[in-house]
Amino acid sequence: MPVLPRTPYPIVSSSRLAANIQRMQALAQHAGVQLRPHSKTHKSPVIARMQLEAGAVGICCAKLAEAEVFAEAGISDIRLPYPINPSNADRVLALLDKVTLSIIVDDPAVAEEWAGAMTRAGKVLNVLVKVDVGFHRCGVNPAAADVVETIARIAAMPGLSFRGLLSHAGHAYTAESPYALAAIVAQETEIMTGLARRLREAGVPVDEISVGSTPTASFAPAQHGITEMRPGNYVFLDRTQVALGSATYANCALFVEATVVSRPAPDRAILDCGSKTLTSDGARGFNAFPGFGAVFTSPDAAGPDASIVIERVSEEHGVCRIPESSTLRPGDRVRVLPNHACTAVNLMDRLWLSDDHGALAPLPVAARGRIW
Ligand SMILES: Cc1ncc(COP(=O)(O)O)c(C=O)c1O
Repeated sequence: MPVLPRTPYPIVSSSRLAANIQRMQALAQHAGVQLRPHSKTHKSPVIARMQLEAGAVGICCAKLAEAEVFAEAGISDIRLPYPINPSNADRVLALLDKVTLSIIVDDPAVAEEWAGAMTRAGKVLNVLVKVDVGFHRCGVNPAAADVVETIARIAAMPGLSFRGLLSHAGHAYTAESPYALAAIVAQETEIMTGLARRLREAGVPVDEISVGSTPTASFAPAQHGITEMRPGNYVFLDRTQVALGSATYANCALFVEATVVSRPAPDRAILDCGSKTLTSDGARGFNAFPGFGAVFTSPDAAGPDASIVIERVSEEHGVCRIPESSTLRPGDRVRVLPNHACTAVNLMDRLWLSDDHGALAPLPVAARGRIW
């Protein structure tokens, strides 16, 4: 007899997961760009392999500890679009023996440290220069007067092989309308292709222009000149993607199966999933919904029950405001669509893959918590 998981547990629709992987691959193909999914969403070599089998050229990881898990599992092409510090050069050198690896840099002094470490070891490290296209997190300022000279200097460093430019328009998540989202993508394209053109004119070859996020992915066919896209969230999707128009509820593959554990007042019900399951992330997006997740009262429901709002989360409690007429009572099951799948998955040891008949199979989140 298979052991059924106890709530709360994450349940992933195998058919929706497969469809999401195929849809993004088809989109990349249509756009004429390579797909390199960010694995931070699923942290699973099994799902990475599904993405590679569908046609992805490799994967991204944020942290070296994630990359170490994927490399160990036989994934052979890994990009780290994260500003890894050169104090980790020993780990990068160990990975270089196993996989094709690339990292980003956005600072010539840091690039120099990488160049030194690689030259001393007799190795060459693929690097892309991260460009700030408006998110104002990492990246060189494309408007800086000396940006071409700065990148040319990095490209000429021994021990480094300059591959090109990379951006992440994370501010797409704060777009206030579909038009604002389209404008963010247009600006990203203009900045990236314009900078690449200036570098080429200065004699610096730019082989790759890598962009990527799930909300901007559907615009890829209009991003002429880019070579690679790196969405991550698209495998599962979530309530934020629905609020941004990048998904419908019917596309969402990951839910949390939960139990009502208390009905302490006519207008209140408590679920057994709180911030340690759903995270404290609110939904973002121009149609952002209140609450810490969308509650589906049946697995077959086409959409959430909008009358149930998870108003508060404490660690183990999801505090729902409900209509007094609600029949919800302790023991009832619901499914919650998390606001943010990537952070929720990082709280889970395993996912439960569900086939079309409801049979469940465990899938370890092998790189969960690998944040170093
Ligand atoms: C550098 C980088 N690339 C790609 C992605 C993937 O974006 P998304 O989660 O929107 O699919 C992220 C997400 O955080 C990122 O930080």
